[in-house]
Amino acid sequence: MDLLKKIDTTNLPKHLSIIMDGNGRWAKKQGFIRAIGHENGTKSVKTTIETCAKLGIEFLTLYAFSTENWNRPKLEIETLMKLLVNSLKKELKTLQDNNIKLNAIGNLEQLPKTAQKELQDVIEATKKNTRMTLTLALSYGSREEIVFAIKNISDKVKNNIISIDSIDDSIINEHLYTRNLPDVDLLIRTSGEHRISNFLLWQIAYAELYFTDVLWPDFKEQDLYEAIISYQKRERRFGKTSEQIK
Ligand code: FPP
Repeated sequence: MDLLKKIDTTNLPKHLSIIMDGNGRWAKKQGFIRAIGHENGTKSVKTTIETCAKLGIEFLTLYAFSTENWNRPKLEIETLMKLLVNSLKKELKTLQDNNIKLNAIGNLEQLPKTAQKELQDVIEATKKNTRMTLTLALSYGSREEIVFAIKNISDKVKNNIISIDSIDDSIINEHLYTRNLPDVDLLIRTSGEHRISNFLLWQIAYAELYFTDVLWPDFKEQDLYEAIISYQKRERRFGKTSEQIK
């Protein structure tokens, strides 16, 4: 049965984020090299982006490359960067056709120049799009992001731009890479791992977490619908009692 019919489009997660995991295991299972897993992972990226836009999700954030991923073999890093550049070139039309704005978070200066350039070009070309904001987390680490924010805030305190007393949640939000994004409502991780892996630690404070055994290259529309249906069955209390919510 098509799970799409079970989705309440008035109660979608406004901000969905995904830890796309399991490309390597998917490839190994079928006797392929890891690069083939990543290549097939890009197909799931495309399907997921298009499905989210169609559904009406406003913000989609994908964990594409972590600060820790720089420790992978050089050849694998090169493969991932090539896939990123090629996908950006190839999918600009998909973004435009679906009215999707591209955004990127992370220590982007660490990326190869070609990737930085391609990213900038697609961000610029799609900046007026309004249907959905797609954020790619690239060379991203949440702890690094928080350290960076603390340094910037401290600097402003030192120079009397802000006072210590004025530091609150919103000041911290404004100094994160995600300053233009709302808090995460639903976080999905594929491949059976139950970890957050340094992804959006501040931003997932009240997110619903959804873990699936499906490996990322196998993650398709119906898997996304299942995650959203699970999200819609949950009662989000934000620290309040069940009675207060009703
Ligand atoms: C995790 O699988 C996936 C990644 C490290 C990168 C995700 C990248 C893609 C889906 C392709 C390129 C992305 C874009 C945005 C074009 P893993 O290698 O950790 O899998 P394993 O845990 O099974 O080894």
